Amino acid sequence: MADTLRVAVIGAGRMGADHVQRLHRRISGAEVAAVVDIDLGRANATIEGIPGAVALTDATEALDGGDVSAVLVATPGFLHRDILLAALERDLPILCEKPLTPDADSSWQIVEAETRLGRQRIQVGFMRRFDAEYAQLERTIRSGEFGELLMLHHQHRNPSTPEGFTNEMLINDSVVHEFDAIRFFTGEEITSVQVRLGKATKNAPAGQHDPQHVLLETESGVLADVEIYVNAKFGYEVATQASFEDGIVNIGGDRGAYVRTAGRWGGKVTPGFEDRFGAAYDVEVQAWVDAAVRGEIGGPTAWDGYATAACCEAGVEAQKSGEKVKVRLNTKPALYN
Ligand SMILES: NC(=O)c1ccc[n+]([C@@H]2O[C@H](COP(=O)([O-])OP(=O)(O)OC[C@H]3O[C@@H](n4cnc5c(N)ncnc54)[C@H](O)[C@@H]3O)[C@@H](O)[C@H]2O)c1
Repeated sequence: MADTLRVAVIGAGRMGADHVQRLHRRISGAEVAAVVDIDLGRANATIEGIPGAVALTDATEALDGGDVSAVLVATPGFLHRDILLAALERDLPILCEKPLTPDADSSWQIVEAETRLGRQRIQVGFMRRFDAEYAQLERTIRSGEFGELLMLHHQHRNPSTPEGFTNEMLINDSVVHEFDAIRFFTGEEITSVQVRLGKATKNAPAGQHDPQHVLLETESGVLADVEIYVNAKFGYEVATQASFEDGIVNIGGDRGAYVRTAGRWGGKVTPGFEDRFGAAYDVEVQAWVDAAVRGEIGGPTAWDGYATAACCEAGVEAQKSGEKVKVRLNTKPALYN
């Protein structure tokens, strides 16, 4: 493969437009070749000031255009499957925003297609793995410095939710990141999910129960709990406390300067995920580009995408039933060992 990736970014919304700027301004070894959006005006606005980039409305046209050597998928999740299959058919390196696909069956189809191809081509956009504090906690767990990891306590709080954010989306769009983080930290699969609905905030829109308490268990018996609270108003906060045999480690939470002024002390709360994880997205995309040039991937795999989709399915079932639901996984293909 040539040393510079020519990337087609599919979907020029919030994430896609951000990734285009990232690729153009901060990532080395890659250029934006095409931006595809069903809204041509949006695609055109996104390539403004990027020499050599074209705006298109059809993903296949970009993949077959001759000038594209890699694909970044940033359309809504329900469109990922077909784009991924088309990109795999052309044996292109792919960075797919989470989720891999919205359900375990279609994610399994992707795993099967990649397995047939015989090499890993898809990296899934779980960017938290590239955040400095997440990476540090993972290394601490792996090192055994504080003995065995026993429990994980996660908080995931957003100021508010966009219109149409349903009860299921708390699991599928928000807790999905925790599912991946817990698998990343422990290096194990999640075996069961339970969801408890307690007292709810008046600030949640009709039909959405907020906050929720998600309880998980991993293969070796690590227990994890997630407070998912998406109308918390005060700002954005994603934090984890890890309990070890010989210590407690906290990541996330308050960041930045500690200020004392006018008889008060404190600092700023991050307003949203773009600020909190901006640097992590840069590291993620650079890792993808560097690996793609070598014919590899540089982060979470299609198997990780499939396994989190299975956790989400168990989570939504648990949300409805109140029961502890087993996560059902097919046998992991050797390609991912
Ligand atoms: N990693 C993260 O932290 C994170 C955060 C937010 C969103 N996401 C994920 O990123 C993806 C995109 O989310 P978003 O918030 O940018 O959505 P968005 O709605 O802002 O953008 C989606 C874009 O896709 C375009 N589109 C729709 N159908 C298309 C088609 N057939 N072909 C080409 N373009 C099409 C839309 O016109 C829109 O511009 C989703 O998978 C979402 O889950 C990830």
